[in-house]
Amino acid sequence: MHRAAIGIFDSGIGGLTVATEIHRSLPHEDLIYLGDTARLPYGTKSAGTVVRYAERAVELLLRYPIKAVVIACNTASAHALEPLRASTELPVLGVIGPGARAAIAATRSKKIAVAGTEATVRSGAYQSAIHALAPDAEITATPWPLLVPLAEEGWIDHSVTRLTLETYLSPIVDSGVDTLVLGCTHYPVFKPLIRDVLTHHFDSYPLALVDSAEALTTELDGLLNERELKAPERDGRRSFFCTDAPDRFGRVGEVFFGASVEPVFAVDL
Ligand code: DGL
Repeated sequence: MHRAAIGIFDSGIGGLTVATEIHRSLPHEDLIYLGDTARLPYGTKSAGTVVRYAERAVELLLRYPIKAVVIACNTASAHALEPLRASTELPVLGVIGPGARAAIAATRSKKIAVAGTEATVRSGAYQSAIHALAPDAEITATPWPLLVPLAEEGWIDHSVTRLTLETYLSPIVDSGVDTLVLGCTHYPVFKPLIRDVLTHHFDSYPLALVDSAEALTTELDGLLNERELKAPERDGRRSFFCTDAPDRFGRVGEVFFGASVEPVFAVDL
């Protein structure tokens, strides 16, 4: 079983930011990544639809020899983690819990902002997870929907993206929070630009940027150790599947993964 892969699921390409971190920290592990590009975006869909789509996608991953499932998608983690956990004996990890724990570790004032898709913000999942750890935390959660298409367009350092971030960050800076949770798979690629905007547009406003990938990987590592499921020392293999437009996945995926994701295989759910 320890030779089996880690299955990673996202609504599309953005979850490759999580796959990158897992690959960097656990290089011996085989990864099987599935991006549901045919149904993206999940972030504007209703809870019931997100659960249904996520269940179908994880069903497909479970046909492969895997030992753990990572739900890299914040929207799917927010809405579907419990039903997905109920559907398999394998451990299923989502990104909300690790992101909340990382936010609590980062904040001093317990004033925390969360940015995510409409569906993630609406679900209240980050708010509940943070409040479960720190009931007195003050949380403002806001959707940042424009960043998903900007990331997919590859406009990582573009004047339009800069202006968008200035607009999104303005109320966050005004509210005096000290920590921002990047609660969407696509947002971590903008970390350097967010830091630049905070420095140059907001007079070096001190804001800790939290993304769940690192915290999730630490939890995954702990879980694999605990269950004696760590892969033997070797170069882990990576396989990439998507449900539509594999060429586009290959092209845009390289921006998110920081390396080639070819070959990308198309699958139907
Ligand atoms: N993967 C989604 C998330 O992290 C963003 C893209 C989408 O809306 O499907 O919430």
